[in-house]
Amino acid sequence: MENLEKLNFDEKVEILKKLKEEKDAVILAHYYVNEDIQAIADYIGDSFFLAQKATELKEKTIVMAGVYFMGESVKILNPSKNVLMPDLGADCPMAHMVSVEKIKEMRAKYDDLAVVTYINSTAEIKAYSDICVTSSNAAKIVNQLKEKNIFFVPDKNLGDYIKKSLPDKNVILNDGYCPVHDEIDLDDVRAFKGKVKILAHPECRKEVLDLADFIGSTKAIIKEAGKYDDVLVVTEEGIFTELKKKYPNINFRKLRKSPICNDMKKLNIDKVIRVIENNENQVEVDKEIREKALIPLKRMLELGA
Ligand code: 13P
Ligand code: SF4
Repeated sequence: MENLEKLNFDEKVEILKKLKEEKDAVILAHYYVNEDIQAIADYIGDSFFLAQKATELKEKTIVMAGVYFMGESVKILNPSKNVLMPDLGADCPMAHMVSVEKIKEMRAKYDDLAVVTYINSTAEIKAYSDICVTSSNAAKIVNQLKEKNIFFVPDKNLGDYIKKSLPDKNVILNDGYCPVHDEIDLDDVRAFKGKVKILAHPECRKEVLDLADFIGSTKAIIKEAGKYDDVLVVTEEGIFTELKKKYPNINFRKLRKSPICNDMKKLNIDKVIRVIENNENQVEVDKEIREKALIPLKRMLELGA
């Protein structure tokens, strides 16, 4: 499409509507992507919702507006679909913060071990895992596992959070983290303590989570926020699109340095239009890895629902 950049938003929406019909396409988006995509997405959600939705969609083409592991998960869960990413370069750095070698090393060390993998991980890592989790169900799922030793990868912060709520398990942490949540300034959060309700994502550091009144996934934070008038939300700032739309009367406070995921922010409506139009940026996952990675993802859908 020529001169897409010169069109206004409503004109782009019209083009997108026609293209979606013509190509039998549907758009999934995560709460962290830019506002223009949240406005045109068919479904927006947290990582668990998106994984569940991926299994139900009937359309031929699924556009996953998020980071690469999300597109991979959609492809693994619904392999006959044509899965497109608006920007193949939008990747989650944390997804690469654990290696297959490390997992093998831990398996050799413990007989009674479950490798529990946060969905923010590569397809290859999932293929070597026993079960996947998201931030909305990690503790619930780990609690149902028969193994005592849990190697939780890649996120040490989410791992540490579930470790505290499951004292009967030996949760072994890996040294991965989300750079966006990990660098949130403690004093910035502390300034609000006792003044407003603090809702935080479990990818934040322990010290930040200790200040929180509620800890949950993006979707859980959005639900919880509705109970209060004055709220500090400690997660990536894309969440405010939905929060402000849903609760126009709540006073949402912001951190001095608002957390921004530059990878999620690489996406825009123009890129969505172009990939559907040209059937570009298809997600491909090696068949063997795909089939192996499907097992822990399916287990997650069963135990985490
Ligand atoms: P959730 O939306 O599942 O809470 O995940 C947050 C995240 O970091 C996605 O990359
Ligand atoms: Fe990855 Fe963090 Fe961005 Fe989520 S916010 S995609 S965990 S870098």
